[in-house]
Amino acid sequence: MAIRLGDTAPDFTASTTQGEINFHEWLGDSWGVLFSHPKDFTPVCTTELGYVARIKPEFDKRNVKVIGLSVDPVESHERWEGDIEETQGTAVNFPMIGDPDRTVAGLYDMIHPNADDTLTVRSVFVIGPDKKVKLTLTYPASTGRNFDEILRVIDSLQLTAYKKVATPANWKFGDDVIIVPALSNDEAKELFPDGWDEQKPYLRVTKQPS
Ligand code: BEZ
Repeated sequence: MAIRLGDTAPDFTASTTQGEINFHEWLGDSWGVLFSHPKDFTPVCTTELGYVARIKPEFDKRNVKVIGLSVDPVESHERWEGDIEETQGTAVNFPMIGDPDRTVAGLYDMIHPNADDTLTVRSVFVIGPDKKVKLTLTYPASTGRNFDEILRVIDSLQLTAYKKVATPANWKFGDDVIIVPALSNDEAKELFPDGWDEQKPYLRVTKQPS
């Protein structure tokens, strides 16, 4: 069954490069990013994992835990990590799930048989502290993902969760934002004392809250 936004992220216990974890316990009160890659010792995946390792401080700053997955076993991930560090210049600093029996891949519908019946596609799930799925992305094996975009979405999700604003097309951190339609003008006055530009009753633009 496909996972939809708002669903509870399926829980599981799995072996990882940092020991056995129970996913929900491991997440604790943090946000999470679970992402799959097709196969160990492959070029695009090598660049992706190196990049995620390099920007991990950006995930930490946002209280986001990152975890990777492929259907290869943990021992294979561990051998591959040497190549990632050597070629990408950063050691992998987050756990990678070994999923040879495809338990987690099955729970998260990460194998798309009409694309490839054995390898996981490039899935991304962003999970909130309430364990609900906030974003899903699926990329083909041949296209490396834009992890800066994933950080941008997390910024947007956190602004909505904590500051009651949504973000417009092509928004970048620091740009103006939109007061969520669910907020009445009376409620908005409390949260946005400096006001807003009401372009339409449903389109209220304001400075990005800090
Ligand atoms: C890669 O990571 O480079 C890759 C993996 C599977 C198929 C194609 C490319």
